[in-house]
Amino acid sequence: MTHSQPTCIFDVVIVGGGHAGAQAAVALRQEKFAGTIAIIAAEPELPYERPPLSKEYLSGDKNFERLLIRPAAFWAERAVDFLLGERVVTVDAEAKTVATEKGRIVGYGELIWATGGEPRRLTCDGHDLRGVHAIRTRADVDRLLAELPTAERIVVVGGGYIGLEAAAALIKFGKAVTLVETLDRVLARVAGEALSRFFEQEHQTRGVRLLLSSGVTCIEGDGAVTGVRLADGTLLPADIVIVGIGIVPAVEPLAAAGAATGNGVLVDAQCRTTLPHVFAIGDCAAHANAFAGGATIRLESVQNANDQAVVAARTIVGRPASYDAVPWFWSNQYDLKLQTVGVSSGFDTAVVRGDPGTRSFSIVYLRDGRVIAVDAVNAVKDYVQGRALVANGAFIDPADLADATRPLKELA
Ligand code: APR
Repeated sequence: MTHSQPTCIFDVVIVGGGHAGAQAAVALRQEKFAGTIAIIAAEPELPYERPPLSKEYLSGDKNFERLLIRPAAFWAERAVDFLLGERVVTVDAEAKTVATEKGRIVGYGELIWATGGEPRRLTCDGHDLRGVHAIRTRADVDRLLAELPTAERIVVVGGGYIGLEAAAALIKFGKAVTLVETLDRVLARVAGEALSRFFEQEHQTRGVRLLLSSGVTCIEGDGAVTGVRLADGTLLPADIVIVGIGIVPAVEPLAAAGAATGNGVLVDAQCRTTLPHVFAIGDCAAHANAFAGGATIRLESVQNANDQAVVAARTIVGRPASYDAVPWFWSNQYDLKLQTVGVSSGFDTAVVRGDPGTRSFSIVYLRDGRVIAVDAVNAVKDYVQGRALVANGAFIDPADLADATRPLKELA
């Protein structure tokens, strides 16, 4: 096999400039790593926070500068180099190089793959019409915001966090918002039914039209979108369509290089892929997670990105740690703050604490008698105290959990 000569070489090359990639560089320097570090990222911006894109950035409450994970000076002081606007398309694990779309070859000592995922696209006719948007990058949201002033009718496809947060932000602008979800409830991937029903009602109360169990047949339009055709024949007129139907992990170059993949790229407890000197972290990394009963899963969260970044950095500097962090997530919609600790999938019992009608309550999920997750809505105490129960897999009688007058810490 012949190998192209790299034009530059770094001790650590990080591919991807999201939360995981940025934190990997931060953690390496915190661990006193003295070698050279480069972050290669497809997006043109320095690393920024992604969660506000569907919340405060979309609603205009935060400008882009406030989204930066660290200011430019921080990276310069720590000698972290950036190759921005460059997408890595191939990995040569033997030569220890990556190649970008522009043909640049970069050599590495250790490679950290932190590419996250691409928004899943609709595949039906009209999916690429003007006015059809994803929400994953700043550029996505800027394109959407540019069209917003002249748009009246918005159809959101997908009732996950992205779709619901976008609906909440856009209804505030006085737009007519319809949300279409294939399944019979929103948030089905991440939460139990009680939470789904609560959020459905909140959105409907604020004027979002919610269509559950509804499939999209095609997007109609001529150049630009004019409507969304549903499987039952209904046409929803639309000036803008927002598609929030999940992400596809961006691992193709690693898979082509021979890394073991499944739903993402497989990593061990130190975030090592099956390729030598290649780590993977964040949304794209499939790992055995103790909080999911040991199942191999991907976690799409800032927590997972940051914590896996630290594990990879420590392994590189020779102080290996094992990834065993307690998963947590959040979502803001209207004045509701949802905080989740643990992974509820596979639960057999869900206990509601408090009255959802008061808009402050929580749901404790158990499997085989053990607490595995807590969803807390405007209930910070339950979130904070529930964390210990999830961390320890506490055995608690559901009847005790249901008594909201008893603090969770008392039950531990
Ligand atoms: N039409 C309508 N709904 C669909 C379709 C479709 N063709 N395909 C999927 N859906 C629904 C799913 O049933 C699910 O409820 O879209 C929803 C997608 O939810 P998620 O998988 O949670 O994905 P999304 O909301 O796009 O979030 C993607 O960004 O903010 C982060 O935490 C979030 O990491 C996640 C990522």
